Amino acid sequence: MKILTICGSLRHRSFNRAICNTLPALGPDGCTLENAPSFAAFPVYNADFQESNGVPAEVTALAEAIRRADGVVIVSPEYNYSVPGGLKNALDWISRVPDQPFIGKPVALQSAAIGMLGGARMQYHLRQILVFLDARVFNKPEVFVNFAKTKVDTEGELLVDESAREAIRSQLAAFADQIRR
Ligand SMILES: Cc1cc2nc3c(=O)[nH]c(=O)nc-3n(C[C@H](O)[C@H](O)[C@H](O)COP(=O)(O)O)c2cc1C
Repeated sequence: MKILTICGSLRHRSFNRAICNTLPALGPDGCTLENAPSFAAFPVYNADFQESNGVPAEVTALAEAIRRADGVVIVSPEYNYSVPGGLKNALDWISRVPDQPFIGKPVALQSAAIGMLGGARMQYHLRQILVFLDARVFNKPEVFVNFAKTKVDTEGELLVDESAREAIRSQLAAFADQIRR
């Protein structure tokens, strides 16, 4: 089973990226988790631009990766109680490609933030967006990594907090079961 991970943060040493880096070690047997191509170079969505220039190659690459995957895990911070603009822009682009790849696609959500709520408010907005994209959004168990600064290694590259890792293991096992069903 192939699962694609999309990171909502572009920040060097992002806590959410540290989670993405750790996911391959936490997935169930028979499940591979790979980072998606970056959306950093996507232009800000503009329907006029799309009409004149078509879909940029970077957008097509991400759409193809989603299409090929059996499921997608989106791991993102919360910006101003919602979805970071870069990720929202990426989803807006993906929603406008022919043969929209999120239709019927199982998607699980994870978030990390430096505060107490671990990005929970962002997840509810992201869930709502994915409903319009006709994705099959996984429900429970949920993963919120709060106080994220204290839960990564000294290089900021991997998630080391055992209770957060266990929460992710449980979610990925249940998500893989749902994909199989
Ligand atoms: C523009 C901006 C808005 C933010 N808004 C929130 C917020 O609403 N809730 C929250 O818990 N943290 C918020 N933060 C703090 C993030 O949790 C923190 O920057 C975190 O490290 C971002 O994730 P990353 O390390 O993966 O980039 C915000 C940060 C930025 C830069």
